[in-house]
Amino acid sequence: MRLPDDPSAQQDGAAPLHPLLGRQLRRHFGTAMAPGTDHAGAWGGFLAAVSEAYLQFDRDRRLTEHSLELMSEELNQRNDELRRELAERREAEAALEREKAEQALLIGKLADTRQQLFHADKMASIGQLAAGVAHEINNPVGYVQANLGSLGSYLADLMQIVEGVERLAAALPADHPERRRVETLCRERDLPFLRADIPNLMQETAEGLGRVRKIVADLRDFSHPDEAGFVLCDLHQGLRSTLNIVHNELKYKCEVVTDFGELPQVECNPGQLNQVFLNLLVNAGHAIQERGRIEILTRHHADAGEVSVSIVDSGCGIAPENLRRIFDPFFTTKAVGKGTGLGLSLSYSIVQRHRGRIEVDSEPGRGSTFRVLLPIRHDAGPPPPA
Ligand SMILES: Nc1ncnc2c1ncn2[C@@H]1O[C@H](COP(=O)(O)OP(=O)(O)O)[C@@H](O)[C@H]1O
Ligand SMILES: [Mg+2]
Repeated sequence: MRLPDDPSAQQDGAAPLHPLLGRQLRRHFGTAMAPGTDHAGAWGGFLAAVSEAYLQFDRDRRLTEHSLELMSEELNQRNDELRRELAERREAEAALEREKAEQALLIGKLADTRQQLFHADKMASIGQLAAGVAHEINNPVGYVQANLGSLGSYLADLMQIVEGVERLAAALPADHPERRRVETLCRERDLPFLRADIPNLMQETAEGLGRVRKIVADLRDFSHPDEAGFVLCDLHQGLRSTLNIVHNELKYKCEVVTDFGELPQVECNPGQLNQVFLNLLVNAGHAIQERGRIEILTRHHADAGEVSVSIVDSGCGIAPENLRRIFDPFFTTKAVGKGTGLGLSLSYSIVQRHRGRIEVDSEPGRGSTFRVLLPIRHDAGPPPPA
């Protein structure tokens, strides 16, 4: 390979001394040809050989420098490639991370949907069961109630007859055997107690029967969706009338505050929704032991095409392990006779029929918020985002 500034390439014939060799000879001997001047002699040959060695060394050095340059260029190129690869790999990793996050989100949504489907399925079978049970119970409850009414009036008649017998016996002489029989019978059977206790028994029985009827009615409501009754209506009106109904139960221990926003008319079945509000308010009241506060908030979420009704209480809250179960039919933490465990499951199915949802936020010891979200119209979904 011929290097561009190779001194040997500049001369034809006798090669000049390598410049470095020339300088060194001049420094040591005063002349480049010292110690002799005979070019053709042995000294001249030696100098030519040394000069050639210098030149060869120069050529080798340039060659090495050139290859080093080439290697350095290659290394730089490789470095750039590696840097590019690294950036690409980082980008791919970030994309993978994003994909992973999206997948986690999807899995979460899927789990939610499965839970909802599972719940809907459970509701459907419980609904069928409830319809059957309600039908079976309704008939006997009907005639027990009718018979109880007759029994009450028969008992009143009997009591009048007993009074007549008592008076008749009192009119007889004190040692008359019939008078003594009547008096002994009255004493042995404790007539004053019977007289006092019979009305209590009748009243308790009527109350118990009323409770059974209420459960049956709830079960029937729960299992017979009344789809036909959707009309446009003012939710505030329903909330006010429902509040009036529960007012008696709440007024002693709760401060009830309303914060009503501007609401459009909502397509709904007002009777059923009132039932939902009633259940939520009664539950809020039950959650408050001595004194507390219930807040009812209504809001219009125009962007989502929804309205919300929140019932916030400062009551006992719900234990985390119960949160998943509160919408299950018959789940109750209340004493026998106080809770049927049907309020929330009924409310859930009513809200579902309205294509809405119920959200719960609760902290034990601090209170609970039940938020009912309802679409304003049923035919139109939420408007597309602006
Ligand atoms: N506001 C609330 N605060 C605390 N617990 C509640 C509240 N609402 C509902 N719960 C819990 O959910 C359970 C189920 O409620 P529900 O279906 O209305 O049945 P019930 O009121 O007859 O027990 C209640 O027993 C109670 O444990
Ligand atoms: Mg309840």
